[in-house]
Amino acid sequence: MKNIGLIYWSGTGNTESMAMHLKEKLEECDVNLYFSEISEMDEDTFFGNEFLIMGSPACGTEQINEDYFEPLMEDSGDKFEGKNVFLFGTYGWGGGEYMETWIEDLKGHGANLEFEAVVVEGEPSDETFEELAAKAEQIANFEDCG
Ligand SMILES: Cc1cc2nc3c(=O)[nH]c(=O)nc-3n(C[C@H](O)[C@H](O)[C@H](O)COP(=O)(O)O)c2cc1C
Repeated sequence: MKNIGLIYWSGTGNTESMAMHLKEKLEECDVNLYFSEISEMDEDTFFGNEFLIMGSPACGTEQINEDYFEPLMEDSGDKFEGKNVFLFGTYGWGGGEYMETWIEDLKGHGANLEFEAVVVEGEPSDETFEELAAKAEQIANFEDCG
């Protein structure tokens, strides 16, 4: 069975609703899912999974969440080496620039970002939820699983 870790941060609920939708869809597939809001996560448990999913809105000035995600990248970035990673999130006005920076940072740490990030403006739409559902299914069936 596939082991997947999903962590997220959300200020006003947009990223959270995406995380909840992914959780629901992944649980419908036959996977072991570790799901946590980032401030409450157990880091070893998260990194113990073969597939890692992370969600953050654009914060600060085109940054990921500064309180938890930036320190995670700075202190534990090397733990992403060789891991499959899928990212999601939402932004207000920057066109998703923060996500490009995050992707490059993770690639620099040796992560595999084969699954294209889902990043949307503002509140996620039904179309976004459909896209996330499709990603969840693809991730659950990725490689030797299923
Ligand atoms: C303090 C703060 C900083 C933000 N910085 C950016 C930014 O740099 N670029 C951007 O596109 N949106 C920015 N936003 C907008 C949020 O990314 C956007 O509202 C997002 O949908 C919030 O997601 P959430 O509901 O998961 O917190 C910022 C919002 C706040 C409150």
